Amino acid sequence: MCGIVGYIGHREAYPIILKGLKRLEYRGYDSAGIALFDGNDIKLCKTKGKVDDLEKKITKEISTTGSLGIGHTRWATHGVPNDVNSHPHYSNSGNLVIIHNGIIENYEPLKKELLKRGYKFTSDTDTEVLVNLIEDIKDNENIKLGKAVQIALNQVVGAYAIAVFDKNKPNEIVVARLGSPLAIGIGDDEFFIASDASPFIEYTNNAIYLEDEEMAIVRRHKEVNIRKIKDDSLVNPYVQELQINLEQIEKGGYDHFMLKEIYEQPHAIKDTYRGRLLTDKAIIKMAGIEDNMKKFLNANRIVVVACGTSWHAGLVSEYIFEDLARIPVEVEYASEFRYRNPVITENDVVIAISQSGETADTLAAIKLAKSKGAFVFGVCNVVGSSIARETDAGAYTHAGPEIGVASTKAFTTQITVLTLIALRLARAKGTISSSDYRHHLLELEMIPDKVAKALKSDEKVKEIANIYKDAKNFLYLGRGYNFPVALEGALKLKEISYIHAEGYPAAEMKHGPIALIDENMPIVVIATKKGHYDKIVSNIQEIKSRKGIIIGIVTKGDTMVKALADHVIEVPETMESLSPLVTTIPLQLLSYHIAVMLNKNVDQPRNLAKSVTVE
Ligand code: M6R
Repeated sequence: MCGIVGYIGHREAYPIILKGLKRLEYRGYDSAGIALFDGNDIKLCKTKGKVDDLEKKITKEISTTGSLGIGHTRWATHGVPNDVNSHPHYSNSGNLVIIHNGIIENYEPLKKELLKRGYKFTSDTDTEVLVNLIEDIKDNENIKLGKAVQIALNQVVGAYAIAVFDKNKPNEIVVARLGSPLAIGIGDDEFFIASDASPFIEYTNNAIYLEDEEMAIVRRHKEVNIRKIKDDSLVNPYVQELQINLEQIEKGGYDHFMLKEIYEQPHAIKDTYRGRLLTDKAIIKMAGIEDNMKKFLNANRIVVVACGTSWHAGLVSEYIFEDLARIPVEVEYASEFRYRNPVITENDVVIAISQSGETADTLAAIKLAKSKGAFVFGVCNVVGSSIARETDAGAYTHAGPEIGVASTKAFTTQITVLTLIALRLARAKGTISSSDYRHHLLELEMIPDKVAKALKSDEKVKEIANIYKDAKNFLYLGRGYNFPVALEGALKLKEISYIHAEGYPAAEMKHGPIALIDENMPIVVIATKKGHYDKIVSNIQEIKSRKGIIIGIVTKGDTMVKALADHVIEVPETMESLSPLVTTIPLQLLSYHIAVMLNKNVDQPRNLAKSVTVE
């Protein structure tokens, strides 16, 4: 959950690393640091705070010349965020310097052993233990850095993506991965190292993604040498052509990535169904489903595993799969599933949903499900991510890079993919009539336009945000397909504005949460026409009689809720099963505007990181 960057080649390393760290800040932003080799020695600067803080400090402290360097932006796991715990970390001799993303779980016994051998530690980090372990092995056995890294990593339990270099061998960087991503950009006589390809996208289109338990020695003027950490066998490098471009990872005139990503949704949803939704032929074409159709059709049930927003998309899919394809579905928090000895057999299909494809709990849930013989299907956004590789088959969402920590377009594109799958299975099983099926396809094709119309509520949402920005609590209510949307709306508000918010199925309110309602409580109610409308109207009446403030998300032209609510935000009409794709838009905008008005860091909310690669 940290970002790592490295460079070795013929250019100045510092500007490349600094820019790369800014692009990777979504992965963690509580401290940052850079180590450069200036031709004679290592120059290192690090600080608590953001990459901007590092930039202000670095030129005052060190010379930034040199064509080899590594940099880090941190999300703390061991040790509080402060200057000392920031990366890079030196070994005791000062010869080696390392950056690390992940956790060394057995760092305490390793540290004890090293302390006995006279090593000293200045930080509280597991990383400083690792670099000294490497140094100890290297010096004692009088071996090269690469070999020492390999031996050390075979003693380590945990997860890592590391980059380390030796000032006495300043023509190589040794990198390795287990459980945390690591890409090597292959330029013209130069190499880039990074947690994802965004730091080097303007320099090269070619990259190698290291697999788990692989390490590489990246040498100036040489080929990349990749080996298995366990048995030292050589690996043939697979060079991939990158599918992202610079424009996609920049803000493009928006104040925040989150706002850009909210506005990208019409386009992103179209990209998700492009080539898959063929309305003229009334066909849904998805290779991952066609190739594994028997598995899906013979499945006793589908078990969805995911975290956060992806879990909410999974909850929406429960309604879709059961409603359309009549397949029983269970939706599990990956973090619970992985530790509770779940009953999973080879007759289950497990769908793992993840934007980043790197979420540690989801990855562990996949491994567990596979070990029990289940067929695991991935729904990921990041191409080539760990989850995409670990699953038996899958479908990408093609949403483009999502940089804002709060997930927006990932949610709607995940729902789009899951809807396509459910419709395809429903057709194959004969649980949907051909007219209903066609109707769904046509409606789905119109969703990008409807999302674009829902985005027109932005000004109205902003006015409402201004009225309620100082509220201490919010409730979000929805029913049926829109119950998960209520959960998602509450999560968005919590994570970027730090206002306490709860999502509930509207009818559950009377079993407890209704006690919270008074004249100070804003309650966002998703009350669109299709699906439980009358029931929702009754729930609204119950709230009104307790003086709660209603912000209704209603179908365009609605009058009944309008007459009861304090405010309404209109969204275009669509079928109930597709309604989450439009009702979620004003909720995303509401949380965005409140957070901006409260002066919060929208794209990098406190304590969070974009991909949670630790437990
Ligand atoms: O990359 P993933 O979809 O696996 O991430 C799962 C959650 O960490 C993520 O959705 C998180 O809840 C977001 N910050 C929500 O906006």
